[in-house]
Amino acid sequence: MTDALLTLTGVSKRYPGAAGRLALDRVSLTVAPGETVGLVGESGSGKSTLARLSLGLLAATHGTVRFAGHDPYRLRGRPGRPVRARLQFVPQHPRGSLNPALRAGDAVAFALRTHGTPRRERPELTAELFQQVGLDPALARRYPRELSGGQLQRVAVARALATGPELLVCDEPTSALDRGVQARILDLFTELQERRGLAYLFISHDLAVVRRLAHRVVVLRHGRVVEEGPAEALWAAPRHPYTRALLAAATGAGPGAGSATAVAGTSAPTELSAPR
Ligand SMILES: Nc1ncnc2c1ncn2[C@@H]1O[C@H](COP(=O)(O)OP(=O)(O)O)[C@@H](O)[C@H]1O
Ligand SMILES: [Mg+2]
Repeated sequence: MTDALLTLTGVSKRYPGAAGRLALDRVSLTVAPGETVGLVGESGSGKSTLARLSLGLLAATHGTVRFAGHDPYRLRGRPGRPVRARLQFVPQHPRGSLNPALRAGDAVAFALRTHGTPRRERPELTAELFQQVGLDPALARRYPRELSGGQLQRVAVARALATGPELLVCDEPTSALDRGVQARILDLFTELQERRGLAYLFISHDLAVVRRLAHRVVVLRHGRVVEEGPAEALWAAPRHPYTRALLAAATGAGPGAGSATAVAGTSAPTELSAPR
């Protein structure tokens, strides 16, 4: 995959003070344009660390991270903005990432401003972005506290889209939502991909969610990639016991159903409903 948008090569991350323990251990991964790569693993496996490294919010201890040929960690600050605009983040908790004092529309307009959109064009573009994420543009006047969790997540997606990204890094973007709302947000991701050719690094502890979107799946355990492959093949015939245990936990059936505790040498996924 020479034309990958995002490439991690042999990336390790050790947090200061984490005596010898690696949050990520020699992880390699690529995301091609227009592709959805699902990153799964139980809580603490290193998923959010990988997201932060990909977004340039953290520096790798070893290895290289490249987005469109650039080291994301060096894209911070003004000179990096044009490339940085092509890479955006969708958080798990939009309520925490949106300024409570800013109307939803202003949050999106602010992102447009950062991207260099002239002031007079911002209201119309904001309304367009609201429509693209399935929100009534009238909601732009509301404050975050006046919006539901699903609506807030749509605002967060609109804000991410404001800079015209090619890759969205989504860290548990639907984990805080009810099942019904979750399904509609997943449909939105699919629709945006079809319309805009977006690529996703889609992170979830929930295989049922990843299963709906991912073309390719990477399974992390204790900071290491234990299995990866095309989604269909991986669902049909997971090779690693840990993947089988995750699958069984997600479906409550399927290969190795109920055998999560019986998988030799594998600690069963715990805490599947409490991601960080
Ligand atoms: N800021 C931090 N400082 C020290 N250790 C951290 C920090 N963030 C995460 N960790 C540790 O790194 C490991 C991976 O965490 P994380 O990437 O958040 O996993 P996940 O998102 O899969 O739950 C965990 O052992 C976690 O405790
Ligand atoms: Mg996490």
